[in-house]
Amino acid sequence: MRSSGLIPLIQPLVMSGASGMGEEKTILITGANGLVGHRACGYLRKTTPGKIIGTSRGEGVNVDLVSNLTDPADVDRIRTTTHPDIIIHTAAISRTDVCEQKQELCFETNVTATANLCEAFPEAKFIFFSTYAVYNTPVGRCDEECITCASNYYIKTKLEAEEHVTKLADHVILRPSVIFGYVNHHQNSKNYFMQLLANIRMKKVMQSPKDQLFNPIHVDIVVEILKRIIESDVCGTFNIGSNEDISKFEFNRHIMEKFGFNSEYLEGIDSKLLTVKRPTIGTISSAKVQRELHYEIPPLEKMIDALYTTSNKDVNRYLAES
Ligand SMILES: NC(=O)c1ccc[n+]([C@@H]2O[C@H](COP(=O)([O-])OP(=O)(O)OC[C@H]3O[C@@H](n4cnc5c(N)ncnc54)[C@H](OP(=O)(O)O)[C@@H]3O)[C@@H](O)[C@H]2O)c1
Repeated sequence: MRSSGLIPLIQPLVMSGASGMGEEKTILITGANGLVGHRACGYLRKTTPGKIIGTSRGEGVNVDLVSNLTDPADVDRIRTTTHPDIIIHTAAISRTDVCEQKQELCFETNVTATANLCEAFPEAKFIFFSTYAVYNTPVGRCDEECITCASNYYIKTKLEAEEHVTKLADHVILRPSVIFGYVNHHQNSKNYFMQLLANIRMKKVMQSPKDQLFNPIHVDIVVEILKRIIESDVCGTFNIGSNEDISKFEFNRHIMEKFGFNSEYLEGIDSKLLTVKRPTIGTISSAKVQRELHYEIPPLEKMIDALYTTSNKDVNRYLAES
């Protein structure tokens, strides 16, 4: 049996096999090798009666179908071999620095692939992963009505992809804050926490902005929210993040303290020194998703505790490898 590594916060639901999803549905999850896609495949396979089909560009434990979503022929092959009721589209070039350097690849992956899927599956419920960084206001705490503005190329592609998704009758756009979690490092995912570990492993001092605020959220809370979305009839746009605002420096400091990492590897800086621009006050309000799903996002401290409990052994093994 595939191990879920699920955090204690959501374990009771898994144990009880609780599911409000009446009929069996087919759910296609793209980016099944990534942080969110991988975890969503594992969790939904355990907690929903539906058929879960994972797809990604490369092979992987949760990949049933290898496909390049920028290729219409591959998307057509998915269309003729699977008949999904729900699509959870997580595949993307998710690193802002890569998007700045390889804009054509970023556009193809983040916009063209999304458009290909929207065209191939106009009747499915389409759940799309955008980003919290689409907002850029001087005050933060943005709700879903806040004005959007692309401060870098990655955000520009996400906003353009959202335009394709909003044309679908049954769509959900998720705008998550930074999602953190441990992923086996042989997988290609370089999420926030894995980048932090990679730096520590290379004994590299991490420059972390003291003035950029955000609402990081653990990946297992994101997949719990996904489960509740597919069990409900909600549609529209939803922010997803912790209820507390924290600076990137403070968040890294908390994690490093919890794992017992040497604090000399962390240096607080002003975000003006960074090359890729991001909103400074990138804080969001996730009140709408919690209200509509009747779900309270746990405190950040509990999420960090859960990250430690579920990944500490793997992290130590990874750091010991050279
Ligand atoms: N992680 C965060 O902090 C965060 C925050 C806000 C929004 N988001 C968004 O949330 C989503 C999930 O994030 P994540 O961290 O799970 O991303 P991730 O770990 O980078 O995974 C993305 C996956 O997309 C797949 N992919 C890339 N190009 C593809 C293509 N042409 N065809 C098919 N698959 C392709 C990759 O597959 P292979 O590995 O098989 O090549 C990869 O596993 C993304 O859309 C991201 O932009 C993430």
